[in-house]
Order: sequence, then structure tokens, then C-alpha cells
Amino acid sequence: ALKVETIIDLDTLYDRAFNVLKEAVHNGSKNFGLATGGTMLPLYERIRNSELDFTQCESVNLDEYVGLPKAHPESYISFMKQQLFNEKPFKKSNLPNGEAQDPHEEAARYEALLQKMKLDFQLLGIGENGHIGFNEPGTAFDSETHVVELEESTRIANARFFNSLDEVPTKAITMGISSIMRAEQILLIAVGEKKRTALEALLKGEVTEEIPVTILKKHPNVTVLTDLVI
Ligand code: F6R
Repeated sequence: ALKVETIIDLDTLYDRAFNVLKEAVHNGSKNFGLATGGTMLPLYERIRNSELDFTQCESVNLDEYVGLPKAHPESYISFMKQQLFNEKPFKKSNLPNGEAQDPHEEAARYEALLQKMKLDFQLLGIGENGHIGFNEPGTAFDSETHVVELEESTRIANARFFNSLDEVPTKAITMGISSIMRAEQILLIAVGEKKRTALEALLKGEVTEEIPVTILKKHPNVTVLTDLVI
């Protein structure tokens, strides 16, 4: 069941997001699935400035670009260090290695790691096209961690973080839909008009692989925080 909370004021919305996460920590969640992207910035800021302690917790990130050096400021490992890990280290943090010689082998390694650990909590943003992680429209619901070809629209949406569209990687490694669905609890944050179509599909549409986020209707414990009135 989806628990949808519409909160127009963004400061209030992100305070609420922080509290959902804090409650999970206090209730004993140990393994956290994390996301990158603009949506997460105000949440990570709140975590950085909080008393929360993750030194007994483990994190796994949803995705990473293929072929971008780890030291590149827009690699997701760099993003996570800047936004969270430098200030709030976990006992162990895992991301797909975007520099692996063989990205497919790396995806298999990451999936094996995910199969071994139960994710207590998964943070999700949403793509304008309804993607979660980098599972683009048409991805099988039973997909595991895999290498994806990024959609042109996704690369354009992310080009704002790079000097030009050419610099945006064309591939990524992402947790699959089934990997995401195994998490005990999910917090989805959808903020801004650009996310309206995708959110509308989740709240009003049918479950379809053409809009990956719609699978969340089948998950037993999803909180959706949004500033959009649908
Ligand atoms: C990020 C991720 C993506 C983003 C989505 C929204 O790790 O997996 O699914 O959550 O693309 O991105 P923003 O927040 O930049 O709009």
C-alpha cells in the first residue's frame, strides 16, 4: 500500500523525509539503500547536520555511471562522499564500480552482494520518465542488477551537472527492479512539476513495465512524499 503525503512546503517535506529515515534508524534498520540526484540534496543536508549515527550501518547505492572515473565530481561515489559519507560514514558503503573492466561482471558481483543482505530501507527519487534507479521504461519487473543504456531524456535531464551533454555517460549499472522491491521499507520523494506525469502514473495509472515506478503499488510499505497535488 502506498502512503502518500502531500506537503507543499519543501522545508516541511524534507523535515518529514528526515523524520521517516530517523524513525527507521531508531527502529533498528541497519542496511540502507541510498540514491543520488537533486531530490536527495536537502535530505542529505539534514542528515549531515543531525545527530544520526550510521557507523553501525551499511549502505548500498542504487546506481553508478559506467566509465566515469571515480574521482570525477559527478560520479555517484563522489556525490555520496560530498553529500553524506565524508560527514556521516557508514561501517561499510557499497556502490557499483563504474570503472570495472567488465561492467556486466561488476553488475553480477553487486547483485550477489544485494542477495546476501536484506535492505531495511530504500530511498528513491523518480525520473521524469518514471525510472527508479536507472531502470528505464521497458525494464522487466523481475530484473536484477544490470548494465543499462541511458535514455537520451535521462542524459539530458542529468546534463545540468556536466559541462555538456557529450560528457554525460551513456551507460550505468543499476540495481534492478526486483532488487529494489526486496527492501523492507521504501521512501520515495517526488518533488517539482517535472515529476508530475510519472507520479500521476504511480498514483492513478496501472502497473506497467513502461513506467517502472508503478511497480511500487505492489510493495507493502512505501511512503511517498510529494509537493504535487495529483
Ligand atoms: C539516482 C537515481 C535516479 C534519480 C532520478 C531523479 O541514484 O537512481 O533514479 O533518483 O533520476 O533524479 P533527480 O533527483 O536529480 O531529479
